Amino acid sequence: MITIKEPKELQQELKRRRFEAAKQGHELTVGLVPTMGFLHEGHASLLREARSSDVVVLSIFVNPIQFGPNEDLDRYPRDAARDLALAEKEKVDIVFMPEVEHMYPQPTKTKIRVEELTSRLCGASRPGHFDGVTTVVAKLFHIVNPDFAYFGMKDAQQVAVLSQMVRDLNMDVQLVPCPIVRESDGLALSSRNVYLTGEQRAQALILSASLKEAYDLVTEHKVTTAGELKRRLTERIQSKPLAEIDYVDVLTFPELEPLDEQVRIDDYQGDLIAALAVKFGNTRLIDNMLFEKKDVALHV
Ligand code: PAF
Repeated sequence: MITIKEPKELQQELKRRRFEAAKQGHELTVGLVPTMGFLHEGHASLLREARSSDVVVLSIFVNPIQFGPNEDLDRYPRDAARDLALAEKEKVDIVFMPEVEHMYPQPTKTKIRVEELTSRLCGASRPGHFDGVTTVVAKLFHIVNPDFAYFGMKDAQQVAVLSQMVRDLNMDVQLVPCPIVRESDGLALSSRNVYLTGEQRAQALILSASLKEAYDLVTEHKVTTAGELKRRLTERIQSKPLAEIDYVDVLTFPELEPLDEQVRIDDYQGDLIAALAVKFGNTRLIDNMLFEKKDVALHV
């Protein structure tokens, strides 16, 4: 495993490896796992998926332009030594670990913005966040030129926004969405979970529990409309005194279009997502559940 900080150096290294492989008549495939570090089992699962490529590149970069002025950029958890040990264990080939000055030698004047999908859910509460994400991911794609890029579905809106960017800009990369990884008690893994106190963590279990209940209620046809689903989730989460709801919403996926409250879930022809963001103290957690038409229809 090698570690590289300079974008140019990584471009040259990958060019060299592709050239060497081509000389042997082999077209090298590259899998990219973009992260902000403080790696956990969710990231490890992405790295394992990426292992089907010839070269696995892990990027670790806390991207300042996706944080708002009052967000947790300064206190975002970091542990480079632990991240490198995990990368080594997961047989990563190249760790790309640039500093801010490597990625943004001058403040960027170019930003990539995906319209509409970024105005809802986290985009509404975190203005500019997704412009920062699409811009840095586009930069990473230009630096690495990956065949595959792996993203966790905990950030389902991120997956939807990045897929739109890739389609709109004809980027030659296949995005691979990977399932949410949870603790045994249901809490979705997140680098931000370390901020939670014991009591906050215990109450935060309501997020996965309420989504799981919602899934059962929908597939058993006990909840039939988008509005009812939203109300159920909201009530369950509000039952926890430390939970401060940012949003609870039910949208189409991956278009992220709002649904009329009266719409019957059975009648909708595509997939839906129930997504939520809830604060426990200063820690904002997100979670979601995808209602794939095939699963909902199975029980009709
Ligand atoms: O999901 C993340 O960790 C970040 O948003 C990403 C995709 C690495 C971009 O900074």
